[in-house]
Amino acid sequence: MAIERTFSIVKPDAVKANKVGTVVGLLEEGGLTVVAQKMIRMTDAQAKEFYGVHKERPFFGDLVAFMTEGPCVVQVLEGENAILRNREIMGATNPEEAADGTIRKIVGTNIERNACHGSDAPETAAVEVAFFFSGSELAALAR
Ligand code: CMP
Repeated sequence: MAIERTFSIVKPDAVKANKVGTVVGLLEEGGLTVVAQKMIRMTDAQAKEFYGVHKERPFFGDLVAFMTEGPCVVQVLEGENAILRNREIMGATNPEEAADGTIRKIVGTNIERNACHGSDAPETAAVEVAFFFSGSELAALAR
């Protein structure tokens, strides 16, 4: 199996609920390693660009408002098949449909306030990691 990197966000709802540790614990217990992590307050411009693929969707405005309402934690995760593994650990986008034991089931509230984001494919992972982390920042964190 391939060692991959993926991009992850602990969203503002989870940060506000003091569940950063819960989320990180589930990721680590699930076999992923946090190789980079920082707490940021996403700007309106960043949120609009990051979620640009959804700009025509009816929920876009609410999504941008939510992602900028408070601090979030952006992360780079590493592990075997990290992209798929992270999506398994997160659970379904809608917490009501997420399996027991998943982040979104445990921490999420609804389809918008769903606790976490994870890249859906290698191409998006590369773009999303580079959106928030510079190459030199990642190089400095190499173990
Ligand atoms: P995320 O994995 O961050 O990717 C896009 C986000 O849009 C998604 O999680 C949800 O937070 C949000 N989203 C997706 N579908 C809907 C929807 N139908 N209504 C509201 N928000 C949605």
